[in-house]
Amino acid sequence: MQLIDYMILENTKIAREVYRLTLEAPPGVRQELPVPGQFVNLQIDGCYLRRPISVCDWSERRLTLIYKAVGTGTEKLAAYSPGETLNVLGGLGNGYTIIREARHPVLIGGGVGVPPLYGLARELVRAGQQPLAILGFNTADEVFYETEFAALCRTVVTTADGSHGEKGFVTDALKNVGFVYDSLYTCGPEPMLRAVYDQAAPLPPGRAQFSFERRMACGFGACMVCSCRTAEGYKRVCKDGPVLTREEILW
Ligand code: FES
Repeated sequence: MQLIDYMILENTKIAREVYRLTLEAPPGVRQELPVPGQFVNLQIDGCYLRRPISVCDWSERRLTLIYKAVGTGTEKLAAYSPGETLNVLGGLGNGYTIIREARHPVLIGGGVGVPPLYGLARELVRAGQQPLAILGFNTADEVFYETEFAALCRTVVTTADGSHGEKGFVTDALKNVGFVYDSLYTCGPEPMLRAVYDQAAPLPPGRAQFSFERRMACGFGACMVCSCRTAEGYKRVCKDGPVLTREEILW
């Protein structure tokens, strides 16, 4: 874990209610580089609790976060401007484990579950793998990062109303695309995770990884607010997760 006051470089709306926040660490401060799927906890002025946001992308001094402005905290966050600072508790959570021996991973994201898969896709491509990304949204005005993913790997976008990309859900695309995958990484709302879980092809243990969203308070394992029952007993989504393997999950 690391606590840093970052400077905001950009806080821009990129889709309906969705913003991209780019942060830069102060000169001389070395940030720990995140593992794909990890998150940070932001201190927002006027909010008692920090807000957890997954990391989309990073470089040596920068972090890119994508969030949806849907509640008091994230709406306040959307009002921050470049040049202001944000106190960030970083390096949180247990991210995705890259399956080194796999070659054809499928990445399935829904809504604000899409961002952590971007950094993951980049790392998988760097590892010589050829991912397929399936990104699901409700409507065309919610779509973001299609071109960024397409620059990295084969990408399929779905919208529930058919206003952009393929009409339907990510599970429809998974069925229709005929991609033979040897590992699976997913992040999104729980009903989507459940549908992917039910439909995914059998894979060796550990090769299907699901990232969960939960209400959080501390974000680092101290308060138990985020605990959930798993096949291996109770786990804290913030510290033992947010990524769980298919074998660990109990619905
Ligand atoms: Fe406190 Fe997870 S949020 S233990």
